[in-house]
Amino acid sequence: MAQDVTDAAVRSLPLAPRNPLPLRELVKLVRRLDTGQEVIRAAGGPVTRIQLGPARVVPPIVAVMSPDGMRDVLGRNDAATDRCIIHEEVRGMAGDSLFVLPNQQWRPRKRALQPVFTKASVRNFGGHMARAAQAFVDRWPTGGEVDLDVECRRVAMQSLGRSVLGIDLNERGDTIARCMHVASSYTADRALRPVRAPRWLPTRSRRRAREAVDAMRTITDEMVAACRADPDRDAPLVQALIAARDPQTDRPLTDAEISNDLLIFMLAGHDTTATALTYALWILGHHPEVQERVAAEAAAVGDGELTPADVSRLGYTVQVLHEAVRLCPPAAGVARVVTRDIEVTGYRVEKGSLVALGLYALHHDPELWPDPMAFDPDRFSPENVQARDRWQFLPFLGGGRPCIGEHFARLETTLALATVIRAMTVESLDDDFECEVPFTTVAKGPIRARLVPRS
Ligand code: HEM
Repeated sequence: MAQDVTDAAVRSLPLAPRNPLPLRELVKLVRRLDTGQEVIRAAGGPVTRIQLGPARVVPPIVAVMSPDGMRDVLGRNDAATDRCIIHEEVRGMAGDSLFVLPNQQWRPRKRALQPVFTKASVRNFGGHMARAAQAFVDRWPTGGEVDLDVECRRVAMQSLGRSVLGIDLNERGDTIARCMHVASSYTADRALRPVRAPRWLPTRSRRRAREAVDAMRTITDEMVAACRADPDRDAPLVQALIAARDPQTDRPLTDAEISNDLLIFMLAGHDTTATALTYALWILGHHPEVQERVAAEAAAVGDGELTPADVSRLGYTVQVLHEAVRLCPPAAGVARVVTRDIEVTGYRVEKGSLVALGLYALHHDPELWPDPMAFDPDRFSPENVQARDRWQFLPFLGGGRPCIGEHFARLETTLALATVIRAMTVESLDDDFECEVPFTTVAKGPIRARLVPRS
C-alpha cells in the first residue's frame, strides 16, 4: 500500500506529469467540474498535475481519476490529506459542521454522529421520500407534462424537511431551496477562483449569501430549541442528535453544533438526492423495458405506501439508482489538501497540493466501464459488483471520510423511485439535458417528461 512507502522513497519519486493543455483551457476545465475531467484525463493521463499560476501563490492541483489513485489518496490511515479551500469557504459561510471540520476536530463529531446514520438507524428518521413521492404522483392524477427537475427537488425538500428537521416545510420549502442555492453558488464560486477577495470585504453577493444562511439557521435553531423543550416532539433526527454522545469522552453536542449539522444535512442532502432521482426518472423515461421491470418489482411489494422494510425487495430499483449515479454522479468531484508528501500511483504529490478526485471521469472511464455512456443497470448485479475493484465506483466517496448520509440517501431515493414508477409511466421528452456543477451536479434547465398513470 502507498502509505507503507517511506518518506525518503516518496521524495525520490517523480512528480505527477504536468498536464500539457494550455493554461487558458485548463482554467475553464477546472471550473467545469464534471465533463472537464475527461478532457483533462485525455490530455494528461489519470493522474496529472495542473498549475494555474505561480506555485508560491496558487498550489498545484493534482487530478486523480483512476481506481488505484483513489485508493492511494483515500485508502490511507495516516491522515495525509485534510479539508481544502472548498470546505473552508463553506465553513466561513455556514459555521463548523461535520462537512467542514478539519480531521482533528472532525473525529469526535463523527464519533457522536455515526451511530445515528447507520443502515439500521436511518430507518428511524428516513422513509419520508415515499410519502413525498406519492404527493408528487397525486398532484398529477391524470398525468401530464412535468419538469422532472422541479418535481424531484420538491420531493427531496419535503422529505428532508420531515426527516432532518421533523417538520412539514410546505411552501417554506421553496424559500429554503432558494436560500440554499444563493449560499452554495456564492461559496462554490469563491472556492473555485485562483485568487479571492478577503472574507471581511462586505460585497453585495456575500451579504445575500449570509442572509440566506441566516434564514435557514433560524429554522434549524428553532427546531433544536423546540426539541429541547419537548423531548417527545416528533423530530427523531434532532432528538437523536441531542442524545448523541462521543463514545470516547461522553461529550454531547452543543445546540450550535446540532444546528450547524442540521443545516449542512439539508445542504448536502437536497441537490444530491434530487439529482439522483431526477436522472434516474429521466433515463428510465428513455428505457421503457427497464422501467417495466422496476414497476413490476415495486408492484410485487404491494400497493400500500412503501416503507424502509420494503427496500430489501427492491433490489433491481437499487441497481437502477446505482447506474444513475454512475452516469450522473451528484458529487462529480471532491478535493482535499495534501498535508505531507504522498505517493499516488508511483508519483509524488507534494505537501500543499490540492488533490482533485474526479468521480465523473472515474465513472465514465471506457477502460473500466465498457460503453460507458450506455445505461445498463446489470452492471450492478450482485455478481458484477463483487467482481469489481471497490475504488471504481465512488458516488459517496470512500475511505476514512465518506458521505455520512449514504444509507439515508439510498433508502430515500429507492423508495421514491419505486413509488413514482409503480404509479406512473414516464416518457422523457428530451434526448438530453444540460447540467451545471456549481458544487454538486444540477440540471441547468427544465427536464420535460410526460407522465401517464398506470391503470
Ligand atoms: C445521492 C445523494 C448523495 C451523494 C451522491 C453524496 C455524496 C457525498 C460525497 C461525495 C461526499 C464527500 C464530500 C467531501 O469530502 O468533500 C459527501 C459528504 C457528506 N455528505 Fe453526502 N451525498 C449524498 C446525500 C447526502 C445526504 C442525504 C446527507 C444528509 C443527511 C449527506 C450529508 C453529507 C455530509 C454531512 C458529508 C460530510 C461527511 C464528513 O466529512 O464526515 N449527504 N457526500
